[in-house]
Amino acid sequence: MYGDQCGVRGLGGSNFARTNSGEFCLACQHTSMIQLGCRPWNLSLVSVIILAFSNMLLTFFLLQSENCRSGDVSHPLEANLFTEWNLGSFAQDVPTSRPCSVRSYQTVPDEEDTLMIDIRRGRWDARRLFKTFDAVLTGSGFSSLSESHLVSLATQSSVEKLHSIVQVAHHWTGPISVALYAAGDEEFDVLQKYLVYLRKCYPPIRDRVLFSLLMPKDRMPTKQPRRYELPEDVDCVKPEATLQQLVSRISSQQTAWRVQNTYPQNHLRNLARKNCQTDYVFLTDVDIVPSFNLTQGLNEFLKSANCDKCAYVIPTYELDTRVRFPYNKSELVRIAEKGLARPFHQKVFIHNQFATNFTRWVQDVKPGNKGYAYVNKGKVYVCHDVTNFEFLYEPFYVAKDIAPSHDERFMGYGYTRNTQVYEMYVAGYQFKVLSPIFTGHWGLQTKKGRPAWREKQNNFNRKHFDVFKKEVFARYMRDPLKMVKKSR
Ligand SMILES: *[C@@H]1O[C@H](CO)[C@@H](O)[C@H](O)[C@H]1NC(C)=O
Ligand SMILES: *[C@@H]1O[C@H](CO)[C@@H](O)[C@H](O)[C@H]1NC(C)=O
Ligand SMILES: *[C@@H]1O[C@H](CO)[C@@H](O)[C@H](O)[C@H]1NC(C)=O
Repeated sequence: MYGDQCGVRGLGGSNFARTNSGEFCLACQHTSMIQLGCRPWNLSLVSVIILAFSNMLLTFFLLQSENCRSGDVSHPLEANLFTEWNLGSFAQDVPTSRPCSVRSYQTVPDEEDTLMIDIRRGRWDARRLFKTFDAVLTGSGFSSLSESHLVSLATQSSVEKLHSIVQVAHHWTGPISVALYAAGDEEFDVLQKYLVYLRKCYPPIRDRVLFSLLMPKDRMPTKQPRRYELPEDVDCVKPEATLQQLVSRISSQQTAWRVQNTYPQNHLRNLARKNCQTDYVFLTDVDIVPSFNLTQGLNEFLKSANCDKCAYVIPTYELDTRVRFPYNKSELVRIAEKGLARPFHQKVFIHNQFATNFTRWVQDVKPGNKGYAYVNKGKVYVCHDVTNFEFLYEPFYVAKDIAPSHDERFMGYGYTRNTQVYEMYVAGYQFKVLSPIFTGHWGLQTKKGRPAWREKQNNFNRKHFDVFKKEVFARYMRDPLKMVKKSR
């Protein structure tokens, strides 16, 4: 048993269950304490009341009890340990006896960075390949920000890319829902340590970000979450180097496993989306950085938006790492003219954002254009509608989160995000391009050879797409891009 050596958890958990005969009876969950068994409901209401009372009394009595039975309990899993964060080694050792307390019933301030989950529980996905845990760590301001904003940022990350969240959380000032992926004990350990670092070093993360977690069935951690302290010499201005240092200690065997096993992007996207509490969600990848003031501007814009089937596209640029993040759209367009920024994936995969029409989008920075007044004031508006939607278009957009979910049968690379956008299009969504807000991705992307594993995943997903497009056709009885006809 994990973390429950006092045997007090779950007491008082009597509930009503249905018997075979269809009558209601009183069933008791805590089999180790008292076995009440099932009695017909109509036997006597009085006996039920007496039982309930004695149950409450017993519970109260046991809660007061100081007799811990930790010695009797085997330790298949480690309990919440108080360990030093030692960058060089992973702290271990299960203490032989654990002080008895009812700590888990209270919110203890200095435990706030510890994941309060039991890895033996969690919610399975449809195919029982992954387990998810909602809200394993929640920013102190997440709930109130979700009330004061109409839109949340939803994003997902594996352990080794998580440093990108630092800049994202500084630019996006509203609520943020992050879905995390960790496979096995090594990654889970690194993740926990790095989360402590992120939350201690960066107030925007501590305040705004809600983290959820997804783990693969084949690589579930064997150790329960622990408590880590931040070492004295940690450098808060180096999020990437700090993560690198932690990740570099992950074994090559684990790294190889990750390469061979697909990253469940769509599971993570759904997990991030569904933990947002606002009506609108802006779903991105973790390395997509919102422009300054995007949150406020977008929030203002959405106050007057009244469209269930609209997807508001926010254009994405890739940025040369030598420039600073552009202060506003005018600056972005200026550096793009110098070749230091360009539409995301323009060179790698033009269809990615082609339908956004950047030729048109950049025009409003010029005086005389009808959008210029908005750009000048930094006010968000619809620059134009997408008129040439094509299959494989995958912009980052804001929409009410009643949009179709991300199909979890697509895993790894290829067909994960654009298939969801495709379904929206078939479902009748309109895509509207916003200005002067944008997002940035660090690094100009150039075409390089795809690793074999990526090609394999892409081929697998392409096959699955043949099924998916027929399902979408059946769901909406529309085939606006002639996708189903073509294949006949
Ligand atoms: C962001 O908003 C603040 C306050 O409204 C304003 O002072 C600042 O100039 C804006 N920044 C940009 C990049 O528009
Ligand atoms: C993009 O917009 C420009 C200017 O409005 C227009 O001339 C052009 O045809 C558009 N391109 C596409 C591919 O729709
Ligand atoms: C955009 O940023 C530049 C500084 O890079 C500034 O000079 C200019 O006034 C800004 N434009 C607007 C409309 O805020």
